[in-house]
Amino acid sequence: MAKTSRTRRTWLNLCFLVICAGLVAFLLLAPEETTSPLPRDEIHQQFHQIQSKKEAEKGCVGCHETGGEAPLPDTHPDPYRCLFCHKR
Ligand code: HEC
Ligand code: HEC
Repeated sequence: MAKTSRTRRTWLNLCFLVICAGLVAFLLLAPEETTSPLPRDEIHQQFHQIQSKKEAEKGCVGCHETGGEAPLPDTHPDPYRCLFCHKR
């Protein structure tokens, strides 16, 4: 009886280890961050100056919404909080 439960625990621990190893491997193999940063040009210069990310982001959509002067590509991920992905 006691032996059975020890075997069980060993198996559970083993499974746990395998899952952890899998997670670590996944994180290490994840592709490098390739998202383009906020450009440093005269259009975007003002947004580098605004301290609060939230405040700065309010200005983005005017140009980068669908139908704006620089609409986001169709493949764009959910465009919430621009500056979390497009680093300054
Ligand atoms: C006045 C209009 C305007 C505003 C406001 C604006 N952009 Fe842009 N943005 C553009 C235009 C035009 C381009 C394409 C030409 C260029 O790269 O400057 C562009 C390009 C970009 C690019 C692509 C750069 C690349 O490498 O191709 C990113 C990322 C970007 N903007 C993010 C932002 C973010 C984030 C904000 C808000 C903080 C913002 N933009 C506000 C007009 C604007
Ligand atoms: C979840 C992360 C994420 C968020 C949030 C996000 N973007 Fe992007 N954006 C990307 C990725 C990924 C791409 C496509 C890869 C690339 O071109 O760098 C992209 C592409 C773009 C491009 C075209 C860049 C190019 O090189 O052609 C613009 C412009 C842009 N984003 C603006 C914005 C704006 C404005 C916001 C906020 C309203 C925003 N993004 C929010 C991840 C994000």
